[in-house]
Amino acid sequence: MATKTAIGTTSIEALLKEKRKYPPPKEFAKRANVNRASAYAEAAKNPVRFWERFARELDWFKPWRKALEWKAPYAKWFIGGKLNVSYNCLDRHINTARRTKAALIWEGEPGDTRTLTYWDLYREVNRFASALKRGGVKRGDRVTIYMPMVPETAIAMLACTRIGAPHSVIFGGFAPDAIRERIHDAQSTVLLTADGGWRRGGHVPLKKNVDEALKECPDVRTVVVLKRTGQQINMQADRDIWWDDFVKEAEAYCPPEKMDAEDMLYLLYTSGSTGKPKGIQHTTGGYLTGVYATTKWVFDLHDTDVFWCTADIGWVTGHSYVVYGPLANGTTTVMYEGTPDTPDKDRFWRIIEKHGITICYTAPTAIRTFMRWGDEYPNRCDLSSLRLLGSVGEPINPEAWVWYWKVIGGGRCPVVDTWWQTETGHILITPLPGVTTLKPGSATRPFPGISADVLNDKGESVKAGYLVLTKPWPGMLRGIYRDPQRFQAQYWNRYPGVYFTGDGAKLDEEGYFWLLGRVDDVMNISGHRVSTMEVESALVDHPLVAEAAVIGRPHEIKGQAIAAFVTIKDGTTGSKELMEELKGHVTKKIGALARPDDLIFASDLPKTRSGKIMRRLLRDIAEGKALGDTTTLADPAVVARLKDQYGEEE
Ligand code: PRX
Repeated sequence: MATKTAIGTTSIEALLKEKRKYPPPKEFAKRANVNRASAYAEAAKNPVRFWERFARELDWFKPWRKALEWKAPYAKWFIGGKLNVSYNCLDRHINTARRTKAALIWEGEPGDTRTLTYWDLYREVNRFASALKRGGVKRGDRVTIYMPMVPETAIAMLACTRIGAPHSVIFGGFAPDAIRERIHDAQSTVLLTADGGWRRGGHVPLKKNVDEALKECPDVRTVVVLKRTGQQINMQADRDIWWDDFVKEAEAYCPPEKMDAEDMLYLLYTSGSTGKPKGIQHTTGGYLTGVYATTKWVFDLHDTDVFWCTADIGWVTGHSYVVYGPLANGTTTVMYEGTPDTPDKDRFWRIIEKHGITICYTAPTAIRTFMRWGDEYPNRCDLSSLRLLGSVGEPINPEAWVWYWKVIGGGRCPVVDTWWQTETGHILITPLPGVTTLKPGSATRPFPGISADVLNDKGESVKAGYLVLTKPWPGMLRGIYRDPQRFQAQYWNRYPGVYFTGDGAKLDEEGYFWLLGRVDDVMNISGHRVSTMEVESALVDHPLVAEAAVIGRPHEIKGQAIAAFVTIKDGTTGSKELMEELKGHVTKKIGALARPDDLIFASDLPKTRSGKIMRRLLRDIAEGKALGDTTTLADPAVVARLKDQYGEEE
């Protein structure tokens, strides 16, 4: 159950003092895909029909009988319809002028580049799909993908969709334990990986992590390994096969499976408010309709656009807006392997200049980092090809928004701040750049056809409270894999029939939504979702730790940073070395993204008389705030001691 909102009133007030407004530039609005405000009212009249219009722009082997069946919490969209995602992303374009258009422009961190036309990508996907089939992968089998940001990752995903095998992509930054847990949950027997990937001039040991993870995954019988870095790795003779050998004999054409609209397209694990990641289930017809529609309208796609979503393919943003949304629209999508500061801090701007990128979609944490690095880096490059900018992953502070608009967009590009989640599949709250007057810091309004509200504990509509979605939408998750109870409890128990997002939000007098961050035990670290419980379990897993409590505290660049309060076992001393060891232990168990920034050894944790850890107090301590109500605290002295210790730590 969610706790009270973690967002302090000061940040709410600061946001609402933001009065700057940016109407759509006239020229932009004139040629925009949507430039009539009436689009909202029209969609609201009949949202289902609105979504059907987009669905009809896709290619179906068989039309649907019924557009929506809603038996909360389960929705079915486009019932009876048959389609294939790879067919919609590839086959339908190769009989048009898009056949020779760049589908994917890729840049490796060392500077190598590859451009695949729609035809090239079609060929590669067909071949890999044939190879998977030969390798025994059947419709419905879950294929795990743990790869760097290279074209083969998109090829692998599309090939899975071609044969109807749901993929489960694991972000390349996750550690062996996290990989193992996801493979077990997905009951996956085939894994696609690479020797490594490039990151900040070094190699990410992907295959080594896989080997470690697979020690306890006896059911995995095939590991396909792409050679990317050429680093030294072990190949296990009866299990591992090089990518090139795997596809060598494969047929050039693989007929696309006729999938049911409600067949599972993929699983993607995300953190919730328990220690165990949830396998979010997305299906075929609704998801593709949702990503197709939102990519087209939110990013105002035109045939000449070069679209760069900087997210890693291991996250939902990479799924929806690097691969499926752009390709379903026949757009040129850009993919970059490495970090923004390799070899220098101007890498992103060099990429934009080199490829003539017109739309750039990135995260607030990146924008704040660029801002700190200084204007000299973007100013070195010609960014005049840009016409639209986007932001996703966490609330963007107005200062960063305005910097992005001014320095990167040259004051001519609208900035779309898009709110959504792994669970929602596609963007839900967002400006339409040809229609919406922008306010820095606000994701503005629900996309046409989407119904959102802000509720209090009693379920009444209020100006500040919990963000909910009141009607089904096509890309919504269809469940948590093999855990219907958790699906119900996590999203649907708080308000019957209404989807609980776990986010706080405020509505202003014009009905604009201002997102205020998570209200549950999920942290947002540089736009990555990490659960406090996951980090706590990783800490408690260490033999010297007795108890741990983890919270997210505000951080200027990352949005939130992790602070861990740890009680160690009797007879152990909390040394600097142990602190590093414990932080390293979390990296080892989950990955570097979950490494605590602060680690405080506590002789005791503040608890209620019934023994529940009072995180709110820990948050106040970490934020250096005056402490709120402490009357339910079992031992008030604990807090005073912690406050002193936290000061020392900083
Ligand atoms: O808290 C919200 C925040 O990111 C969460 C979803 O995280 P994830 O499933 O990893 O997906 C990230 C990319 C879609 C949300 O619950 N969030 C995402 N976008 C925004 C945001 N918070 C404020 N403004 C946004 N634009």
